[in-house]
Amino acid sequence: MSTFQAPKGTYDLLPPHSATYLTVREAISAPLRNSGYGYIETPGFENVELFARGVGESTDIVTKEMYAFETKGGDRLALRPEGTASVLRAALEANLHKGGNLPVKLWYSGSYYRYERPQKGRYRHFSQVGAEAIGAEDPALDAELIILADQAYRSLGLRNFRILLNSLGDKECRPVYRAALQDFLRGLDLDDDTRRRVDINPLRVLDDKRESVRKQLTGAPALGDYLCEACKAYHEQVRELLTAAGVAFENDANLVRGLDYYTRTTFEFVHDGLGSQSAVGGGGRYDGLSEMIGGPALPSVGWALGVDRTVLALEAEGVTLDIPAATAVYAVPLGEEARRVLFAQVTVLRKAGIATDFAFGGKGLKNAMKSANRSGARLALVAGERDLAEGVVQLKNLESGEQTAVPLDAVVDEVRRTLG
Ligand code: HAM
Repeated sequence: MSTFQAPKGTYDLLPPHSATYLTVREAISAPLRNSGYGYIETPGFENVELFARGVGESTDIVTKEMYAFETKGGDRLALRPEGTASVLRAALEANLHKGGNLPVKLWYSGSYYRYERPQKGRYRHFSQVGAEAIGAEDPALDAELIILADQAYRSLGLRNFRILLNSLGDKECRPVYRAALQDFLRGLDLDDDTRRRVDINPLRVLDDKRESVRKQLTGAPALGDYLCEACKAYHEQVRELLTAAGVAFENDANLVRGLDYYTRTTFEFVHDGLGSQSAVGGGGRYDGLSEMIGGPALPSVGWALGVDRTVLALEAEGVTLDIPAATAVYAVPLGEEARRVLFAQVTVLRKAGIATDFAFGGKGLKNAMKSANRSGARLALVAGERDLAEGVVQLKNLESGEQTAVPLDAVVDEVRRTLG
């Protein structure tokens, strides 16, 4: 293995492509920042127990995909496979829920780690932007989050995504359904692994992609038929609010999700151009998670959108983001004296908020102009000894080729005027 190789299932973000990722993160978080969500950052690792209890002992994430390890000091830690448990842990630890201002609305952006079988759209290190609204049971909050994710995707120009919506019931009705489903599943011809799954997490069996299992599932009891009146009414309100907001969704009774903490509202954003890894984002309500990790009852809801898959979705739709060139002005000095003078001008321009770069490394004129063009700059500042003797620099418009002499002390104004 070469030393210059990123670990399996990971990749590097490099310029200029990396600018797209920054723009996507920015676009996903913009509606959240505009809606009362405060920024939170938590460590990249946590006590392994947090995820085991929070995400669920029977999930693939905990049993197969967690990067868990013991430190030299004997702590059992895990790289975070997701953000919700960590954010809730942090909010509880800081007593944010006791400030008398519920829900606590938080957003985050970061790297997550799952030891999955890598393929396009599925990585071992990936990036999410997420939001959690902690401590309120209100269908408008569920609707708000779905609306904000929809708005984020639309602002990026994505069109071919769908929102799948379901309700998983609550602690009243889900156990009744679970028992009925187990009765049904125990009558089927299933392998030992799947039978174990029937015991610990029967809803996940509904998600089994194998044809041999799928064909036996017709006639399985449907969760929708078991929802209690409170859950039904709650779900109806979420749907009404989404409809009133003009957000289209599809009811999907089979949407189970891969994490155990969900109650009531669950949803997934799927993109039809991504093949098997079609979920670009997902989330739902997790009214019991706080108690599962040892906190008070705090009904909550949230989502996380995958940045990697969102970028793939943009590519699949042929959407190119309008990302302004990083550099507006490129300075090209000819000779030692010009280097000093132009380098000082570069600092002045940067202080004035104009993105400026400089031909470092003593390049000749031809090479320096090539770099200026590659940088995407619209203007080049060129100066040689004769210009300096006259107290001017040449301002060259790299699009039109037009060139004008500008007095040194008028450079910032003239650049501003030309850039518009
Ligand atoms: P999740 O569905 O596991 O939910 O992940 C959310 C999104 O992260 C996925 O839809 C996908 O875009 C991206 N993602 C997940 N795994 C990978 C991977 N291996 N490679 C690339 N992208 C991936 C959660 O993580 C929940 N914490 C969401 C949530 C927040 N629920 C409530 N609040």
